This record gives sequence, structure tokens and C-alpha cells, in this order.
Amino acid sequence: MRSTTFEGALAVNDDEGASPDEGASTDNLTSLPTARIGPRPAPLEWASIAMDCPARTRYEVLLCHSLLRPDGSALLEAIGDRRALLVTTPTVDRLHGSAMRALLEKTNTVSTLVLDAREETKSMALVEAVVAEALSHGLNRRGLLISFGGGVCSDIVTLSASLIRRGVGHIRVPTTLIGQIDAGIGLKGAVNFRAKKSFVGCFHPPEQVLIDPAFLKSLPRRFLASGVAEAIKMGIARDVKLFELLESRSLELIMSGFDEPAAAGRELLQRSIWAMLDELRQNPYEDQGYERLVDFGHTFSPALEAAMGFGIHHGEAVAIDMALSATIARSLGLISSEVWQRIVNLLRTTSLPIFARPLELQLCRDALREACRHRGGSMNLVVPAGIGRAVFLKSRDEVPDSLLEESLACLSSYAVADS
Ligand SMILES: NC(=O)c1ccc[n+]([C@@H]2O[C@H](COP(=O)([O-])OP(=O)(O)OC[C@H]3O[C@@H](n4cnc5c(N)ncnc54)[C@H](O)[C@@H]3O)[C@@H](O)[C@H]2O)c1
Ligand SMILES: [Zn+2]
Repeated sequence: MRSTTFEGALAVNDDEGASPDEGASTDNLTSLPTARIGPRPAPLEWASIAMDCPARTRYEVLLCHSLLRPDGSALLEAIGDRRALLVTTPTVDRLHGSAMRALLEKTNTVSTLVLDAREETKSMALVEAVVAEALSHGLNRRGLLISFGGGVCSDIVTLSASLIRRGVGHIRVPTTLIGQIDAGIGLKGAVNFRAKKSFVGCFHPPEQVLIDPAFLKSLPRRFLASGVAEAIKMGIARDVKLFELLESRSLELIMSGFDEPAAAGRELLQRSIWAMLDELRQNPYEDQGYERLVDFGHTFSPALEAAMGFGIHHGEAVAIDMALSATIARSLGLISSEVWQRIVNLLRTTSLPIFARPLELQLCRDALREACRHRGGSMNLVVPAGIGRAVFLKSRDEVPDSLLEESLACLSSYAVADS
């Protein structure tokens, strides 16, 4: 227990679990953005008290070039003089680990933890491994985690950072396309629990996200295509220009590791990131309503991923979900056959699947029931109403089993004929 008195303010008792190395520091306290007020007299009697709990309200997403160059100042600046723990995965470590460590030599980075982090292993066990490493290196409340990898890595690191000493800072360096335009730029982190996708998680915004498209050069094409699925999501749901860009450039970009044409790659990243942040900004903690355009492609896909033992890539499951949602929209007369065809064509030219065997009526029914549970009682299935426009189907009555069955049959026979 420690006590610090601020000018004209009350004593602050903080962190009964503080370790001796923290005791002398007032860094946490002085970094508070607002001055302490008080003491205020206690009311004689009260039945309820409103308690304001302002949280971190801002973080930055930076587009960087040559982040790992020896003078890669964006990361060095973000870390400052804090003790940091780098968390990465075997492939990223093999490809970029030594360059990253050479850069971090100029910082107080204490260790690199290489986690076997895959969708199949994305669990509390890996969160515990990160927490244990932080403890063994004596990370204090100013300590910092750096996630260096794809969405699985940043999910684990985000959740770990939220738990260590009730919350330490974290910086993300996403190295996959999904990481750069989706998983790595939001506030959330989660792991799978008892075969339930992302069941245990948190909202714990990063301090900074440093995006360097050069990492995408080493990313296998299948993963690039998976990332493009998230860009397609934004294109269909809200940005017709992004959709058109993808129609004309997605194949080239995937084949070149997002290197060529460079301007198109940059525009794709910028449009996708902007769209994501613009959506998140309106409802960062998902407590301002349950109508979220970013849920497009994310209603049936979690159940599909789980049913396939997480053996399908996230973006592939999202693509299948989008194809089914578009088929439902077509059956309801919300989009024309031409628009449906454009959507399916874009998914196919991007080498994304539009159907998988476990996608059956029962899985869809379960997924819609789960969506209702997760979205405050309303189904809020996001379906396209054109290119660049989507609507929410709120109630299960709007998507009867007969419509689901018809859409599934239609999509599966198209997929078979097209393969
Ligand atoms: N928290 C969120 O808001 C959020 C949002 C969307 C997705 N997600 C999660 O993100 C995960 C998917 O992310 P992902 O697609 O990045 O998967 P991933 O993290 O598993 O990475 C995919 C593969 O790419 C490899 N890799 C990473 N960077 C590389 C590089 N530069 N070069 C070569 N190989 C590289 C990894 O080793 C891995 O095998 C899912 O678990 C999903 O649930 C989270
Ligand atoms: Zn997603």
C-alpha cells in the first residue's frame, strides 16, 4: 500500500499488490490526465452513488515504412524507456525476429516469448504463459507487451495485457493482413474456450498499432486471401470504391505479396483501416447498440470455424458467411442476381471459398440463436442491400428455416458447379 499526496488533493491509496520496485515510482499517478479533486464531504445519507470510470480513450494506428530498420523510430518512440516483453510466434520469429530484436536492443525489452499460437491453441493456457513470462521478468504496471504477429498473437497479448496487474499497456505490430486491417486495430482480445470461439475476452485498447505493409511480402497467399475477405466485408457493407478496387486489384495484390501495384495496396489498407475505425468509433465498447456493420460475415462463421475444429482460416469462414448472407439477401429481393454474382465472383477470384460441408441448416439455426444471445436479443444478421450498403435483419422470423434451406441448397449447388 502506498500513499501519495497531490497538491490540494486527497491521499491516493493505490495497488495493494505493488511490488517493491514499483513502490518508489509515482509514474502511474503522475500520468493521470486529470487532477485529483477532493476530499469532498460525504453526503449524510445516500441510496445510490454514480461512479464515473473514464477509460483509455485514444490510440493511434500508424502506417509505417521499414519499421524494422535500425532507425525504426516509430516503435522505439512508442516503447520509450519502459520495460517491455515481446511476444511473437515461431514463423514470425524465424522471418523477422532477429531484425526486431536488433532494433529492440536500444530499448528496455527484457525478453522475447515465442508462443506456438495458432487458432487451435488460442486458449487461456497461452495467456497464462504470457502472464508467467511477465511475472518472471518483474514487469511492473508501467510494463509493456508488444505483440508481433497475426491476429491470434495480438488476441492473446491483448487479453494478457488486460490481466497483468489489472492492465498494462500494449503495442501491436501486426504482420498479417487480417492483423493490419481488422484484428490488430480494434480494442478487443479474446481466446477460445471449450471449443467456443472467442468466448473469453476483453476490451483493452492498444497504445499504438504500427502497420508496415512490407510484412505482407512473406505472408502465404492463402493468408493474404483470408485478409482480403475482411476488406471485401467492408467493401460490400459500406465502401463501393473499396469493392471496385478489390475487383480490379485483389488478385495482383495477393500474387505479389501486396507489393504491386503499391499504390493499390496502400489504398486498400487505408480504406479498410479507415472503415474499421470509423465503425468502431461509433460503438467502441459495443454497448451503444447491437447493429454493427462489421458483423457482416461474422454470424455463421464462428460456428463454422468451431465445427471445422478451427481447421479453416478465419477469413475463409467469413467469406462463406458473406456468400450465404448475400444468398439470403437475394432470396429476400434485397439484391439483384447481378449484385449477388459480383459478390460471389470477387470471393472466387480472390481464391476464397463460398461453401463448406458443415454449413447445414442446424449449424445456421444454432448460429442465429447465438447471434441473438450475443446481440442483445436481436438477431441483427447483416446482409447486403447493394454494393457498399447493408441492412440488418433483426428478427428470426425474417429468415425462416425454409429460406435458410433454400439459400444453403442454392449456394452449395453453385459452389459444386463452379469448382
Ligand atoms: N480481436 C479482434 O477484434 C479480432 C478481429 C478479427 C479477427 N480476430 C482473430 O484473428 C485471428 C486470425 O488472424 P490471422 O489471420 O492474422 O491469423 P494468425 O495469427 O494465425 O496468422 C496466420 C499465419 O500467418 C503466419 N504469419 C504471420 N505473419 C506472417 C508473415 N509476415 N509472414 C509469414 N507468415 C506469417 C502465422 O505464423 C500464422 O501461421 C483469428 O483468431 C480471429 O479470431 C480477432
Ligand atoms: Zn473477422
